[in-house]
Amino acid sequence: MKLRIAKVPGDGIGPEVVREAVKAVNAVCAKFGHSAEYTLAYVGACAIDRYGDAYPEESHRICMDSDAVLFGAVGDPKYDNDPASKVRPEQGLLAIRKRLGLYANIRPVETFESLLYKSPLKEELVRGADFVCIRELTGGMYFGEKGRRDNGDTAFDTNVYHRYEIERILKLAFEYSGRRRHHLTVVDKANVLETSRLWRQAAQEMEASYPDVKTDYMYVDNASMQLIRCPKFFDVIVTENTFGDILTDEASCISGSMGLLASASIGEHTSLFEPIHGSYPQAAGKNIANPLAAILSAAMMFEYSFGLMKEGEAIRKAVSASIEAGVVTEDLAREGERAYSTSEVGDWVAKHI
Ligand SMILES: NC(=O)c1ccc[n+]([C@@H]2O[C@H](COP(=O)([O-])OP(=O)(O)OC[C@H]3O[C@@H](n4cnc5c(N)ncnc54)[C@H](O)[C@@H]3O)[C@@H](O)[C@H]2O)c1
Repeated sequence: MKLRIAKVPGDGIGPEVVREAVKAVNAVCAKFGHSAEYTLAYVGACAIDRYGDAYPEESHRICMDSDAVLFGAVGDPKYDNDPASKVRPEQGLLAIRKRLGLYANIRPVETFESLLYKSPLKEELVRGADFVCIRELTGGMYFGEKGRRDNGDTAFDTNVYHRYEIERILKLAFEYSGRRRHHLTVVDKANVLETSRLWRQAAQEMEASYPDVKTDYMYVDNASMQLIRCPKFFDVIVTENTFGDILTDEASCISGSMGLLASASIGEHTSLFEPIHGSYPQAAGKNIANPLAAILSAAMMFEYSFGLMKEGEAIRKAVSASIEAGVVTEDLAREGERAYSTSEVGDWVAKHI
């Protein structure tokens, strides 16, 4: 198969981890007889520097014309520390999500036996935890009307959800649960927020169409506690944009490192695959960042965009093997043991594939 991939490294450690993901993709292509063709596109601070726009039209065209987008991360301290800045790298991220119609972000959270000790939680709590967060990505407060009034002393972000936005992601979540352990947890704040009440109402109406899925409802404050108290309770979680953003970072602690969690964003046009971490500017250019989340995102790309399950599995197996063999970056290395560089881990994984 010919794979047309938009390569969007972004900022900070983005280029370093995407480089390693590309090695894994090429290794899989060589093994299974596919060919990958990459087109480079700029999004984030690097796009602002080049085009004065965090998501330039040319980048959008490249993404639209590709079969999948392999994404790194965006963000640069020079913008983070300037609240008055009119253009921001994160606008690029929001724009690519909106314009590609990427309404669902799928983030699997799993544990690796040899890394259980890395989790800040007790091993017996996290051993065997295996769930998927499905976060709504193009609605809610991040995209609602926002602004200032009263000479800037009052600020507002409007949380808006339309029924169709809720129903399409719930459908995806019900179907996803049906292919896993048949348990869906709808996370909301229906005791306070009107948007959450609409989410809950829609989910309750749809439940009957999915009799094989056990559905339960949990307030987000409770969910944030249960994720830590009993992560094994969860199979599939579905929630709105802001809650999902926060809960998935919390969930990353279960695996032990931000550098391990991959994600797929799917929707109306080309799907996008990215690690859940940011641009980790402190590590940029040092060849120390963990590339495994980006490499696992490439595995999701094979599975979701191309339906190539064996190819995805080959990447997953190689990643697990590198962890078992202790070929890991400093965030995962055991005390007193050697930490490998970003490129050494990527080379090892590609060779193993
Ligand atoms: N999707 C995205 O592109 C995205 C997501 C979150 C944050 N950001 C941006 O990234 C910048 C930095 O934000 P932040 O510091 O809050 O989040 P971050 O994810 O970049 O880093 C947080 C911490 O996680 C760890 N970490 C992250 N990635 C890692 C990796 N690959 N290997 C090892 N450890 C890793 C590090 O300890 C780091 O200090 C900001 O500009 C922010 O806006 C972008």
